[in-house]
Amino acid sequence: MKNETIIKTDRLILRPWKEQDLEVFAKLNADSRVMEYFPSTLNREESDQLANRMQAKIAERGWGCWAVSAPGIANFIGFIGLNSVEKATFDAPFTPAVEVGWRLATDYWGRGFATEGALAALKYGFETLNLDEIVSFTATQNKRSMQVMERIGMHHDSKDDFDHPKLPDGHHLKRHVLYRLQKNEWKKS
Ligand SMILES: CC(C)(COP(=O)(O)OP(=O)(O)OC[C@H]1O[C@@H](n2cnc3c(N)ncnc32)[C@H](O)[C@@H]1OP(=O)(O)O)[C@@H](O)C(=O)NCCC(=O)NCCS
Repeated sequence: MKNETIIKTDRLILRPWKEQDLEVFAKLNADSRVMEYFPSTLNREESDQLANRMQAKIAERGWGCWAVSAPGIANFIGFIGLNSVEKATFDAPFTPAVEVGWRLATDYWGRGFATEGALAALKYGFETLNLDEIVSFTATQNKRSMQVMERIGMHHDSKDDFDHPKLPDGHHLKRHVLYRLQKNEWKKS
């Protein structure tokens, strides 16, 4: 078991998950606005399983998709972090890769929290994990998420667009955009 990383930014703490996060996380995952660009909302059991999987990776490697606190505002607002995407479980042209991702409760949208946390996750990925590249992807309709990718300096080439391997053919969310950022581009910014 590795030391579990905690990252502090001006307004946020990216930290391991706590039992108390699960109830709020389940509400967020049951919100159709949050889950608009996912195949479905999650029930309590599915939400808990997702949180447990994310925490297990943090416990194993020290990093992952962290639970996010906004001190003075809320103990838990969602997750932001890094996830390794393996070819065996996600067969796409760009895998294996490390992705940066985020999911916040709607009360905390529109304040720059996703951008702030994602920039800290990129810094950790490039400067501590020494990754050469970090990617991010989402359904082509998810403009809010793409705006976060653009605000944190990632770039999109439509040649990288791909079909999500886990969604059935014809599913309205199957087409995805891929954004990339290389370590040398990060250093320049
Ligand atoms: C994707 C998601 C995290 C984006 O949330 P968001 O609030 O749009 O993004 P940010 O937290 O970076 O906030 C940016 C907004 O805050 C504003 N803002 C206010 N203060 C800010 C600051 N200090 N810094 C940056 N932006 C700030 C920006 O102008 C922008 O406003 P806009 O929505 O009018 O354009 C959120 O929509 C979400 O959780 N969606 C559901 C899950 C999801 O789709 N995840 C991605 C799947 S791949």
